[in-house]
Amino acid sequence: MAVASSDRGAWNSKLGFILAAAGSAVGLGNIWGFPTKVATEGGAAYLLIYLLCTFLIGFPVMVAELSIGRKSGKNPVGAFKALTTNKFFPLVGLWGVICGVMILSFYTVIAGWAFGYAFEEIFYFLGWQAGADWLTDTGNGFKNALIAAVFMMATIRIISGGVSEGIERATKTMMPLLIGIIVIMTIYVLFQPGAMDGVREYLLPDFSRINPTLIFSAMGQAFFSLSLGMGALITYGSYLNKKENIPQAAAFVTVADVGIAFLAGLLIIPALYVAQAAGIEIFVGDQLASSTNLVFQILPALFHTIGGAVGLILGVVFFLLLSIAALTSTISLLEVPVAYVIDEHNVPRKKAAWGVGLGILVITLVVSFQTSLIGTFDYIFNNLGLPIGGVLICVFIAFVWKTDSALDEMESGFEGVKKSLFGKVWPIFIKFICPAAILYNIISNFI
Ligand code: PFF
Repeated sequence: MAVASSDRGAWNSKLGFILAAAGSAVGLGNIWGFPTKVATEGGAAYLLIYLLCTFLIGFPVMVAELSIGRKSGKNPVGAFKALTTNKFFPLVGLWGVICGVMILSFYTVIAGWAFGYAFEEIFYFLGWQAGADWLTDTGNGFKNALIAAVFMMATIRIISGGVSEGIERATKTMMPLLIGIIVIMTIYVLFQPGAMDGVREYLLPDFSRINPTLIFSAMGQAFFSLSLGMGALITYGSYLNKKENIPQAAAFVTVADVGIAFLAGLLIIPALYVAQAAGIEIFVGDQLASSTNLVFQILPALFHTIGGAVGLILGVVFFLLLSIAALTSTISLLEVPVAYVIDEHNVPRKKAAWGVGLGILVITLVVSFQTSLIGTFDYIFNNLGLPIGGVLICVFIAFVWKTDSALDEMESGFEGVKKSLFGKVWPIFIKFICPAAILYNIISNFI
């Protein structure tokens, strides 16, 4: 039975697609993960390796995913089924769907923390300390579950609205807002005392800090940040018009993602040093305070030190920014399993969105009470899962579907692609450089 076209959907415009895909890419990974990793794992050296991973490995894989998606017009499982009779590759698609489900299950909890902190800033301003403390307690399972459930409901509602009326409409409003907020906040922070120490740490590389662990982390971060390796962009590509130029669209999305990660670093790393100049402890021993502490403790401490209306506005706006970025990403994480259920099991969109969303919410509730699962899930489904998915997508195009067929698909929207420099170089990346680099990285990390 064919799926009703209204349930599958399509993007209304090129800008709509780019904002939606950039919305998927720009998320907690950019505004929370990236600056945190820069701060704790290597400063400017990390930034440099991250940029190399993004442009040399991430961008070619993004073009690959979009081509598979547009050619097949299907979710990750259906896409591989449509393009090959080989029985293994649909399992790669299924692995992507599973990674999406599991990443969404813990991503929602962290998104909930961010959303809760926006209210914490208000409660703190109003002097309601008990309420503020309740919201900052990331170990409080009930509180985590409650806010994560609100966040999941918002995601489900948008997804059940469909591709153009739901995803495209929501991201078209949220992305410009997000960019505006981050630019204004960065300018404000850069003019505060101490900011330049952070700028130096962020932009002057110390090459001796580069090692296999740093490279593995930067590559994982690039995959996660660009939403690659689990078929989110196969799915988004499946709604893409044949008139669109795939490499150009992928370039826009990559640059938007890197640009916002770079800006977030330029906001958060200097903000840490501003906090230090204001007397807040940012080092534990000789190490920068790590992970969740940076964004969920040091920044609120900074906003409280600034105090008054300015502190309140900065605090609320920053955590709303984080929540908006997270929401445009949870949308794409949920869309992958929902598209799978719509295409492969002929379920209408609304039913699929609510059924799958509420199912994932059950896992989210477990994670809310058992937050140590976040690290485990992150390692298996993100750090390992996405690069493994990325290698298999490269192998599929290189040896099964063939780079030539992918280029044929790109011809529509980019006439003459085969003769262009891109058309000559991209197959080399997909056949050799990307899989070799990703595999080397995964293996060297284990060794
Ligand atoms: N790219 C998102 C971020 O940086 O937060 C996370 C993500 C979204 C990963 C969607 C994978 C995905 F399919």
